[in-house]
Amino acid sequence: LSVPQPANEPVKEYRVGSVERTALRNALQAAKAETRELPMWINGQSVFTKNKLKVTPPHEHAHVLGYINEGDKEHVQQAIDAALSARAAWGAMSWEHRASIFLKAAELLAGPYRAKINAATMLGQSKNVYQAEIDSACELIDFLRFNVHYATEIYKQQPYSPTGVWNRVEYRPLEGFVFALTPFNFTAIAGNLPTSAALMGNTVVWKPAYTQAYSAQVIVEVLQESGLPDGVINLIYVDGPEAGEVIFNHPDFAGIHFTGSTSVFQTIWQTIGQNIAKYKSYPRIVGETGGKDFIFVHNTANVDEAVVAMVRGAFEYQGQKCSAASRAYIPTSLWAAIRAGVQETLKSQKMGRVEEFECLFNAVIDERAFNKITGYIDQATKDGATIIAGGNYSKETGYFIEPTVIQVADPKYRTMCDELFGPVLTVYVYEDDQLEDTLTILDQTSPYALTGAILAKDRATIDYLTKRLVNSAGNFYINDKPTGAVVGQQPFGGARASGTNDKAGSSLNLLRWVSMRTIKETL
Ligand code: NAD
Ligand code: ALA
Repeated sequence: LSVPQPANEPVKEYRVGSVERTALRNALQAAKAETRELPMWINGQSVFTKNKLKVTPPHEHAHVLGYINEGDKEHVQQAIDAALSARAAWGAMSWEHRASIFLKAAELLAGPYRAKINAATMLGQSKNVYQAEIDSACELIDFLRFNVHYATEIYKQQPYSPTGVWNRVEYRPLEGFVFALTPFNFTAIAGNLPTSAALMGNTVVWKPAYTQAYSAQVIVEVLQESGLPDGVINLIYVDGPEAGEVIFNHPDFAGIHFTGSTSVFQTIWQTIGQNIAKYKSYPRIVGETGGKDFIFVHNTANVDEAVVAMVRGAFEYQGQKCSAASRAYIPTSLWAAIRAGVQETLKSQKMGRVEEFECLFNAVIDERAFNKITGYIDQATKDGATIIAGGNYSKETGYFIEPTVIQVADPKYRTMCDELFGPVLTVYVYEDDQLEDTLTILDQTSPYALTGAILAKDRATIDYLTKRLVNSAGNFYINDKPTGAVVGQQPFGGARASGTNDKAGSSLNLLRWVSMRTIKETL
């Protein structure tokens, strides 16, 4: 087996006057000039329905991007049937052929579809140019290329055979269909969850978040053009619990590849548990879920680095990265300098529509998120917390919330524990000599363990904090922000209430989508 050696897709800069900037401007213009139909995609066919749901940019209520064609339980059944019918031929297809389809998809995204998918992510999910580029272009392309590489490594692994015996293992696809259930916040995750399971020979029913439907449509176009056979991946727009009723009661349900909130994942796990006797096999349950990601600053840290880690780590993409910092622990001795740096940096940045390329911050995803986040901000003010920066919001033209920094006196205050999933960073200032107590609180106040960052200069302290916080994060950063994991470099995923930690974009993850058969042949 031999496939091209993967390398991370370079991030384009979209400088003024560059070819890519012109292409992106044109793609944004073309997208806004057209109201798109967003059909389901079942057995290779676009499926339109009468139930049309309006899609508007989170930052511009007045504009209609398109209409989701929402289906019902019958469509879920059709998608399952299509997946099961496509299974035998897809599983029997040569590995090289399957891999070439996904490598082709990566090439299309890197070239002709780059501007289109970035424009769709910008408009549909309110990401600025850079955030769209590192997500829907680079990270998705990297997932596709690196997964092919990791799968090749898996397929090569064979057991030892002594003289007279030929031992071997087959990496069979799961027996049934896989359900991919994806969140709004990364187009790359939406693309990765169905394709990684499909790469290993499975067929898939995929339900994206409706708030990501606009860019999901471009993923479908790319897969179609890559030559993916009909029925291998089937996209449905059906209300989550309604889709779940059909999926989780089906005897051929073989696994779920989920990314989303902890509460939804736990509900799904319970449902699967209740139905366990109905299934032909024990379903694979892979889920990356919520977080309450932290920044811990030690008094040996560099102040400027801490400011950058806090501003970028907490507020890029409006704090809606699963990896975004939402609580920070700062020593008293550095607080005045860090506070001033954070305030100054935030004051110099603009918030607005994504078409205004100079805006670092855009809108939060929808009204539900807006109400939840602003509710927490208001309550914190009432509870006597200090607003260090931001605090204002408006949903008049779009769902805009200023990057907000809250200082609390109680390290167990609710905004230090709950996942808000928005542009809010809560700071607890600890006494320099209270290191141990603060670390205990950090480790124990939140049920999550997704990402975390420590900033310190002293080697012994770095070593100590790394060991002391061993279970507090699946992705741990030293002297950096806790966001921006790169496929192939920092395998991504959390433990505790943050997920099953099957590291997206790794061979560990791909192994969950195969079921080995061991064969012993006596020669
Ligand atoms: P969500 O849990 O609301 O939705 C995820 C998907 O599940 C969507 O497609 C949704 O429609 C569907 N869904 C919701 N309720 C359902 C139900 N009862 N039955 C079946 N399907 C249902 O998550 P979201 O708001 O789209 O994304 C944000 C969440 O995702 C945050 O909690 C964030 O931390 C998490 N996230 C985690 C990671 C990670 O790698 N750990 C990555 C991205 C996002
Ligand atoms: N790659 C994304 C991040 O780490 C998930 O922010």
